[in-house]
Amino acid sequence: MDRRYDVVIVGAGLAGLRAAIELGEGARAAVISKVFATRSHSGAAQGGIGAAIANEEPDQWEWHMFDTVKGSDYLADQDAVEIMTRDAPNTIFELEHLGVPFNRTPDGRIAQRAFGGHTRDFGKAPVKRACYAADRTGRVILDTLWEQTLRMGVDFFDEHQVLSLIVDEGICTGVVAYELATGAVVAFHCKAVLLATGGAGKLFKTTSNAFASTGDGMALAYRAGAALEDMEFVQFHPTGIYKLGILISEAARGEGGVLRNADGDRFMERYAPVIKDLAPRDMVSRCILKEIQDGRGIGGQAFVHLDLTHLGPDVIGRKLAEIAGFAKTYAGVDVTREPIPVQPTCHYMMGGIAANADGGVMAGDSGTTLPGLFAAGECACVSVHGANRLGCNSLLDTLVFGRRAGAAVRDFIRTTPTPKPSDRFREQTESRLSRLMAADGTEKIGILMAEMQQVMMEHVSVFRQASGLQAALQKIRELRERSNRISIQDQGHCFNRNLLEAIELGHMLDLAEVVILGALDRKESRGAHWREDFPQRDDEKFLHHTMVRLSGRAPELSYRPVTITRFQPRERTY
Ligand code: FUM
Repeated sequence: MDRRYDVVIVGAGLAGLRAAIELGEGARAAVISKVFATRSHSGAAQGGIGAAIANEEPDQWEWHMFDTVKGSDYLADQDAVEIMTRDAPNTIFELEHLGVPFNRTPDGRIAQRAFGGHTRDFGKAPVKRACYAADRTGRVILDTLWEQTLRMGVDFFDEHQVLSLIVDEGICTGVVAYELATGAVVAFHCKAVLLATGGAGKLFKTTSNAFASTGDGMALAYRAGAALEDMEFVQFHPTGIYKLGILISEAARGEGGVLRNADGDRFMERYAPVIKDLAPRDMVSRCILKEIQDGRGIGGQAFVHLDLTHLGPDVIGRKLAEIAGFAKTYAGVDVTREPIPVQPTCHYMMGGIAANADGGVMAGDSGTTLPGLFAAGECACVSVHGANRLGCNSLLDTLVFGRRAGAAVRDFIRTTPTPKPSDRFREQTESRLSRLMAADGTEKIGILMAEMQQVMMEHVSVFRQASGLQAALQKIRELRERSNRISIQDQGHCFNRNLLEAIELGHMLDLAEVVILGALDRKESRGAHWREDFPQRDDEKFLHHTMVRLSGRAPELSYRPVTITRFQPRERTY
């Protein structure tokens, strides 16, 4: 089957929907999503969205920019960070006008709360900068944008897995997708494709990410010739529920919650004397693991406590109800009386498809873009997060760069002729699927996936070193080889999860290799990338972005300079 649109957006999270709104009603747009639109992972974002609107305390966008650059360990491109932090207040007001129900101050303005790494006066003290809707901020923004796109008449193709990009003579003119309910292979022909498929947390065993976060867009772009940038930087959020990884929002600490070790000691005071529990995530995650390694995990186990008992039922009920529910359901903990057992959990990819600030996907080191292909949100690397993203900057990233990408796509399609569709790409994908369905190997997809997640967790998570990374690389390559010998047990055409997982596994093995190659190459510690064998940051050798492209079938590394405008790299203390 073939469908024709002006624009196809892959992914129905915040970046994709914000872009769809920007296209306006004149463009024929389709949004393709492998889950029902409002189940997109943006809906799981809890604590808030950062903007220096100074409703509760003095604040300025320059302080927000400084915090973001410092939080990134000076790897973010400062021109892009300036765009994002300057645009943040307007983004909030626009959301409010679209209908987002933010929490309010007593005098009726949008309420704000403290978040990790956000300070006033260039690092002097924490500042309340995150605008929020209790601890369901992503959920309410996603629902609001979805309503707006429905009103505009955007067509949704939910539960469709994109299998390949159509790139004809160097120009992207569509995608080929698989309809999960029927098994139909559908070619979507269009003038422009925007990838907004989110992250790849499922690379790791313990993650806050949804099952769908398998990095599909990143892998598709990589296979189509785009560069992946800074993939070695993977964020571990400090507070996932022990063993499950389910997110307990940083907002819990923003509202006054504290981390305690087995001695009941508020250990973050020792590591970050100025902002304590509100230090950036890379630091707090390392500190938690250090406490555990030094024997101060609770009961000698691999977790510490997040204590909210002093906040009282009123604050918890009004501002942290969602996480209180999660703690009760998944850990059996009443947060008004007992602390929550927490451990770091894979949360966010700082790296992604190398993109400019208007979503153009970079095809070469010189800044040339791949015509017709755009990317925004977590799957893209603009780069505004560098080596470590600050909490409440991800929703902001999706909305600021989703809007800009939408505007760029709108302009692009105005001047781009409708491409001539060819059946070739759908037919190639159909043959690939048929071969996959017919495979009769003995390897089990679930086992390969679990082995991948285990080795990534063991050697490529918070602490890394050369021998572990080498072992992980070898294992990932072995898994890729074994993945050629799988079989698809479910031969049906209706919601064939087995087939879907085979496709996702292929994507994740590609990305795992890229993450490890970048981590091996970067012989320094910066932000979330901590090399035990190279514990210092080394600006002389490594103040650059890592770019990985496919050259033939092999990944090839190159580098891109970091854009520094206002803030020279300094030692990062809190
Ligand atoms: O902790 C949180 O609520 C997560 C926010 C974020 O990743 O920005």
